[in-house]
Amino acid sequence: MTAQLIDGKALAAKVRDEVKQEAAALTARYGRPPGIAVVRVGDDPASQVYVTSKEKTAKELGFGSWHHHFPATMTQGELLAVVARLNADPLVDGILVQLPLPKHLDANAVLAAIEPSKDVDGFHATNAGLLFQGRPGLVPCTPAGCMRMLQEIRYDVTGKRCVVIGRSTIVGRPMAMLLLNASATVIVCHSKSDVAAEVQRADVVVAAVGVSKLVKGDWVKPGAIVIDVGMNRGADGKLSGDVDFDAAKERAAWITPVPGGVGPMTIAMLMHNTVVAAKARR
Ligand code: GUN
Repeated sequence: MTAQLIDGKALAAKVRDEVKQEAAALTARYGRPPGIAVVRVGDDPASQVYVTSKEKTAKELGFGSWHHHFPATMTQGELLAVVARLNADPLVDGILVQLPLPKHLDANAVLAAIEPSKDVDGFHATNAGLLFQGRPGLVPCTPAGCMRMLQEIRYDVTGKRCVVIGRSTIVGRPMAMLLLNASATVIVCHSKSDVAAEVQRADVVVAAVGVSKLVKGDWVKPGAIVIDVGMNRGADGKLSGDVDFDAAKERAAWITPVPGGVGPMTIAMLMHNTVVAAKARR
């Protein structure tokens, strides 16, 4: 069997189109567009690329968009003051503090200072708690994008054995909660797990560990759905996922490529979250 591809690039474009229409409707109704403020501290090159892309997408969708860039020498107090100002700014519906922050800054304290209704990353403990309780809130963008992919291929996870590899607060944990809230049977694997044994029994595999090709093709159950969140840059500069794609695609029913799979979905879902936040706040 050769798997069908879940085309993240095409689906992200579709999500952006939907968000653009919703943004236009909000602008017409309330006289101002949804607004997102992105805060970047220091000069991490990857962060610069991500933030530029977020800003460009926000503008294309007709959002208000602000990029606040500060030197790496910024103090914790100064950063908290910026967050407080954005919390109070009525034009700002979404606030995103780009990670990683320079080492002398306490990222947890900064994320905790963001007003939960503007936390479009879904990283605040209030939003994490709402997700844990199965209540509406802002959901982290990457796992939300993975759920949207499952929806797109009309795959119902009810009662299905879904294995999430990785327990990060940004992807693995919220992914497990979203699947559980959708009535899947959820297994979360980590460094102490027998990952091969779990993947062999899985109807759905979501790999989010950051280890290139950790998931071998012959572990994949024939007909399984494979979603690869990994973005690993090799010594040759090439991107690879957490799944051995070439081998896994011979067994899976559906699989996401890397690049062009989950990656493009993250920013699209960030824009979706900003519209959700804007609607909730009006
Ligand atoms: N750095 C890498 N990915 C992300 C993300 O999704 N949100 C934030 N805030 N920082 C990141």
